[in-house]
Amino acid sequence: MASRLYQWLDGRLKLKSLGHTLLDEPIPGGASWIYVFGSATLFLFLLQAVTGMFLALYYAPTPDHAYDSIQYIEHEVWFGWFVRGLHHWGASAVMVAIGLHLLQVYLYGAYKSPREVMWMVGVILFLIMLTFAFTGYLLPWDQTAYWATQVGINMMGTLPSIGGFLVRILRAGETLGALTLSRFFAIHVLFLPALMLMGVAVHLFILRRVGPAGPWNTEQTQNRSEPFWPRQVYMDAVVIVSLFLLLAALAYFLPFPLADKADPADHSFVPVPEWYFLFFYQLLKYVTGPLEPVATWILPTLFILALLFLPFLDRRSERRPTKRPLVMVAGIGFLIIVFGLLGISLKNLYAIPKSDPSVVQGQKLFVQHHCAACHRIHGEGGKVGPDLSYVGNRRPDRAWHLRHFTDPQSVSPGSIMPKLHLSDQDKNNLASYMLSLKKG
Ligand code: HEC
Repeated sequence: MASRLYQWLDGRLKLKSLGHTLLDEPIPGGASWIYVFGSATLFLFLLQAVTGMFLALYYAPTPDHAYDSIQYIEHEVWFGWFVRGLHHWGASAVMVAIGLHLLQVYLYGAYKSPREVMWMVGVILFLIMLTFAFTGYLLPWDQTAYWATQVGINMMGTLPSIGGFLVRILRAGETLGALTLSRFFAIHVLFLPALMLMGVAVHLFILRRVGPAGPWNTEQTQNRSEPFWPRQVYMDAVVIVSLFLLLAALAYFLPFPLADKADPADHSFVPVPEWYFLFFYQLLKYVTGPLEPVATWILPTLFILALLFLPFLDRRSERRPTKRPLVMVAGIGFLIIVFGLLGISLKNLYAIPKSDPSVVQGQKLFVQHHCAACHRIHGEGGKVGPDLSYVGNRRPDRAWHLRHFTDPQSVSPGSIMPKLHLSDQDKNNLASYMLSLKKG
């Protein structure tokens, strides 16, 4: 029965020759685990597309409802937390996969003639992926989303001549608001997927026209070649299934909480970008004053142009890494700088002022005396009193805190904060903790 149906369909759709075209593509030098990154990237992109479609069923792209709709997905929708988790971790995974794919092609010199156009399309796909990340980040409409996007848009504004134009397109007004959110949503779910699909189609079309590059050692290529099916398909499948299991585990074990709902009036919030933008965030901290444009747009533009035109900068047909020292040094240098900056940035983010025992003691007192019933610190705690996340910046004076703890009304008339009946030592410790709560 099944075979008769197959015969019938084959007579009409030419399935046999289609399977032949899809699966018998020769791989010079044979199948290898090093070639899996392209398929992994494609799989992750498709996973983002599918999880995104399901999220769009419940997500409401307006400032009034976006945050609540995500809360709803997270807590009410059947398996909503899981789909959101997959989409969240998938976004990170796709960056890793695309980065490894790019590195492999770079190392193997696979961008060289006749694959220049395929490389350039690939670089554009990478830029589209970054735009996906940037636009998706705003959608939950929490504090981090709001303020990180604010920073990103402002940075784009520093671009000469096209900066103003880009800001107008993205922000759609003087401030970040309802129009911005619907723009970001439309770009994220309509424009970018369309561009991405076209780009992927062109990328794969060229791949089939010129074939995979194979090993850098061309003698190996001439002697041996193997069809895509079955070994390369098997390797790709193993990687794809493992990736899915990894993402499912991340979604299950590491739920990704929202920050507080976006508050456009709260200028004290210091946003932290996603990890794949962190190295850049760190760079921006070092380059200030008149040199700022160097970091905000000159370096990124030069980097993108160099990447895009790499096949024309490194034109010799030689592909062996040992024979391309300049390209290798440039690549390794770039990686060292990026990972160095990322490391410094992560270290700063997770450096808790553990060293000062007075601060540690103060932190304990803060918990013991239920200060969090009224005060929030980085999203945790009540909203009766002011947010204390950065109280050290706002109130840098120890004496003020000591007076305030003893009698809040003496420095803040009408305060409803209860007087603290603590020893001077403990008040001092609590003040140390307050002073330690600072930005950066
Ligand atoms: C019943 C609610 C309540 C509790 C409990 C409470 N506070 Fe407050 N706190 C307030 C209110 C309201 C204010 C704002 C008025 C003022 O400055 O006193 C405030 C202000 C502050 C400020 C000044 C913040 C600023 O930005 O000016 C600090 C510091 C502070 N509280 C620390 C603490 C600590 C430490 C504890 C726990 C020992 C605590 N609070 C417990 C309600 C509370």
